[in-house]
Parts: sequence; structure tokens; C-alpha cells
Amino acid sequence: MSVVLVEQDGPVGILRLNRPEVLNALNSAVMEALADQLTRWDRDPAVRVVILTGNDKAFAAGADIAEMAERTPVEMLQSAQITRWEAIRQFSKPLIAAVSGWALGGGMELAMLCDLIVASETARFGQPEIRLGVMPGAGGTQRLTKIVGKMRAMDLVLTGRHITAEEALQWGLVNRVVPVEQYWEEALKLARSLAAGPPLALALAKEAVLFSLDSTVEDGLKFERKVFALLFASEDRREGMAAFLEKRAPQFRGR
Ligand code: CAA
Repeated sequence: MSVVLVEQDGPVGILRLNRPEVLNALNSAVMEALADQLTRWDRDPAVRVVILTGNDKAFAAGADIAEMAERTPVEMLQSAQITRWEAIRQFSKPLIAAVSGWALGGGMELAMLCDLIVASETARFGQPEIRLGVMPGAGGTQRLTKIVGKMRAMDLVLTGRHITAEEALQWGLVNRVVPVEQYWEEALKLARSLAAGPPLALALAKEAVLFSLDSTVEDGLKFERKVFALLFASEDRREGMAAFLEKRAPQFRGR
């Protein structure tokens, strides 16, 4: 059985982590499968949005501790893992995390790499690496701090405590929290609505928001102005504006 199940629901690609016996711990095979499939789907115009999910009990309980336990520093530094995280980061289309149960350590970092998070009420988030004698190593000190601010990041990173979906919602770490029976439908509904959107504008809007994390406001505004103007070259912006004026639904084709 594959460690990541790959499915497609029309324009929505679905990646389902599938190591339930270890709460979807992220080993090399999982990260390789995720990076490879996202790289493939990035080039495939038939896929417009991707949902990354686990099962009701666990999104992912972090990096695979059994795999990590005997690693040397040099192996950690040279591991292909870094390029795999990078491949996920570079995915240009909307990426939604549908999170239920545990999202810890690398699992929480993976969810934070996504653009939107739909969580079930049972979701639990945390960066417990400190309890293993290490610290977050895939964005838990950087992306997390950008999302929730210094004090909250310190709270999670230094104590290793878990927070509930409700607290994560209050902190702005997740977008929606729904009962466990509904999180998958909610994520799918969100994915389908984005999939009906203009692909080029979605990709550039995503890039511009992410650009703001690493740039000054001045540089970000320059970038925004340019990509905004660039979209006026697309057929989809003609279609979007014409459809509005003609009072009909637009048909976006990604051109
Ligand atoms: N790696 C490997 N195996 C894991 C795992 C992980 N991260 N998390 C859980 N498992 C395994 C357990 O060893 C156990 O296996 P066995 O049945 O063979 O004993 C199985 O999954 C079920 O786990 P538990 O029995 O522990 O389940 P629980 O309900 O009692 O506890 C839990 C759940 C609180 C999530 C607990 O499993 C736990 O604390 N897991 C580790 C979480 C963690 O520390 N994550 C950070 C990893 S480091 C990291 O991610 C680095 C980074 O930044 C990239």
C-alpha cells in the first residue's frame, strides 16, 4: 500500500497521507511522494487545486522519529528532505490542508506550508520537538512566527504544548473549524470553489501574498502592482470582467 494515496476529483487533486499505524509520521518515502506528485500536478492544467489530508485521527504526528533517531548531523544536512520541503513550498496552485487529529512537529509545519487550513474540532497542533531534545526544523520557528507572532510561537516552540483547533482558530493559524464529520466536505467545497476561479490570477495572488512574508512593504507593493498589471494580458481577466457586465458566471480557462 502506498504511503501517500493520490486521487483526483475533477480539477481537485487529493493527497492522503497513509501511514495510520504511526499516525502518518513523515518519513522520507512520504516526503518524496508528496514532492513528486505536487511537482507533477504543478505542470498539469487539469489540476487546479490540491487538498492535502490524513485521516480523522491524524493529519501527521511529525517527522518519523524512528527514521530520525540514528541520523548524524551530516546526514541531516545532506538529506534530500530539504529539497522535498522546497518542492512543496514552490507548488504554485492553491494548496489546502484538511486537518483532523494530530498535526504535530513536521505535521504542523506541513499544514503551515499550505495556503489554507480547514480543521476538524478534534485537530491538535503543536511543535513538540523540544521534548525530543531538538527544535522545529522545517519552518516551525520561522513560518509559525510570521503567522502567529513572537509570543505565541515561543509558547509552542519552547513548551512543546499542544493547542486545540479552537485556539488555533483564535490565533489565525487555521481558517475554519468544523465538526469532525464535516471537515472533509468543507475542504472539498472550498477546493471546488477555488478550482472554478482563474488559475493564473490564483497563482499570482498566492505568489504575491507569500512574497510579503520575505519583503519590505515597498518591494511587495512594487511586485503586486506588476503582477496585477500582468494579469490584464490574460484571457481570463477579459472573461471575468465581461461575465460580470453580462450578469453571467465566468468560465475561466487559465489563459
Ligand atoms: N514518528 C514515528 N512514530 C510515531 C510518531 C512519530 N512522529 N508519532 C507516533 N508514532 C507511532 C508511535 O510510536 C506508536 O507506534 P506503536 O503502536 O508501534 O507503539 C503509534 O504511532 C501510535 O502512537 P501512540 O501510541 O504514541 O499514540 P497516542 O495516542 O498515545 O499519542 C501522540 C499520540 C501524542 C501524537 C504521540 O504519538 C506523540 O507524541 N508522537 C510524537 C510527536 C512528535 O514528537 N512529533 C515531532 C517529531 S520531530 C519533527 O517533526 C521534526 C521537524 O520539525 C521536521
